[in-house]
Amino acid sequence: MYNPSDDSFLLEECIRTGDYAGRWAIDIGTGSGILLHALSERFENVVATDIDLNSLLACNKDVWTEDANVMLVCCSAASAIRARFDLVVSNPPYLPDEKGSSFRDIAVHGGHGGTEATAEFVKSALPLLATDGRILLVVSSFADQQALDAILAEKGLVRKKVKEKRIFYETLSVIELTRKDNEK
Ligand SMILES: C[S@@+](CC[C@H](N)C(=O)[O-])C[C@H]1O[C@@H](n2cnc3c(N)ncnc32)[C@H](O)[C@@H]1O
Repeated sequence: MYNPSDDSFLLEECIRTGDYAGRWAIDIGTGSGILLHALSERFENVVATDIDLNSLLACNKDVWTEDANVMLVCCSAASAIRARFDLVVSNPPYLPDEKGSSFRDIAVHGGHGGTEATAEFVKSALPLLATDGRILLVVSSFADQQALDAILAEKGLVRKKVKEKRIFYETLSVIELTRKDNEK
């Protein structure tokens, strides 16, 4: 299971301090459930997915989930979910795969350029996003942001930077995506 780190804490802070509240929210790639916990205090219904069953089983044992409005689903991205979400959040695996190695850690490696998993998560969640819904994502300066931007543009999404943190040579950002049609 992925231990919460700087990326998790950055997105958690955005959820806890931003104007995010409503009926339905989903956390894709929930890991320890740190973001799910924050969502459960602001949304009536929360769904969390992860491809790693052991992470979900650990979340299910957490004391806070006992009385919470939480559904834990083992599937890839949002592929097994049908609902309409006001907010989608994800701290996806975003590091580029290691060059010349077949080793891939699904918790951290996001594909050749690092953004492939992020793009898959967005594509999977988009049909479930309410018309004025928002997506909050962690992105890293180590990953191919141009490739991600091209996909976001193709999907009619606009990005806004919510928060940024520099850690040695890497810059982590939380970005908010909305549909271009809803741009104010
Ligand atoms: C960087 S960790 C983030 C975990 C947690 N959300 C956090 O912020 O600490 C990425 C998570 O995505 C999960 N994951 C990887 N590929 C996935 C997929 N295709 N569908 C759903 N979850 C996936 C991993 O198992 C891991 O728990």
